[in-house]
Amino acid sequence: MRRLLLLVALTACAPARTRVTTEDRPHLGDAWYAHRAATLNITPEAARARDAALPAGPDAGPPDDALDAHTAREAAALWRDLCAACHGPDGQPPSELGLDPPPKTWGGFGVRMGFTFGGDAMRRGIYRSIAEGKGEGMPAWGGRLSREQMWALVRHIESL
Ligand code: HEC
Repeated sequence: MRRLLLLVALTACAPARTRVTTEDRPHLGDAWYAHRAATLNITPEAARARDAALPAGPDAGPPDDALDAHTAREAAALWRDLCAACHGPDGQPPSELGLDPPPKTWGGFGVRMGFTFGGDAMRRGIYRSIAEGKGEGMPAWGGRLSREQMWALVRHIESL
């Protein structure tokens, strides 16, 4: 019974998964700052400055107030278009790719426990892998994606 309650509590804590349609396309480079500026009603220059002021790890966790419905959609579209080929749409890496070492499997009870107990330290580690890459198989996305997009991807991974 107690275990069941814990499971219910952890499931309830998981961020909601965002679905995207074929019309949702990720915004890269200047297109991201133009898009974010429009959603925040600020100029693209202000959007760029705002992004540069966000934490980039290793000392701070995800900027909660910077993650909203727009960034959740963006992250879901980024994941589908840029990450899912190697990581799988649902975070289960397709075994036929034969990546060695393979990416971790995301989603499920064990991972949710990891996020619950690993907290922001775990989120910072994931941000770092996205920004700097990992091993030979994982490209670095820092510079190609904004900080906010990468933090939103951390949240997306958490929601898988
Ligand atoms: C070309 C294939 C490929 C693409 C595209 C790719 N990854 Fe990876 N990723 C990998 C591999 C392989 C690893 C494992 C690397 C290792 O452990 O040496 C990995 C590791 C990671 C890790 C560290 C945790 C783990 O699984 O070991 C994170 C986080 C991650 N990727 C996120 C992303 C995100 C977010 C994107 C899209 C923006 C992305 N990846 C795109 C191949 C890819």
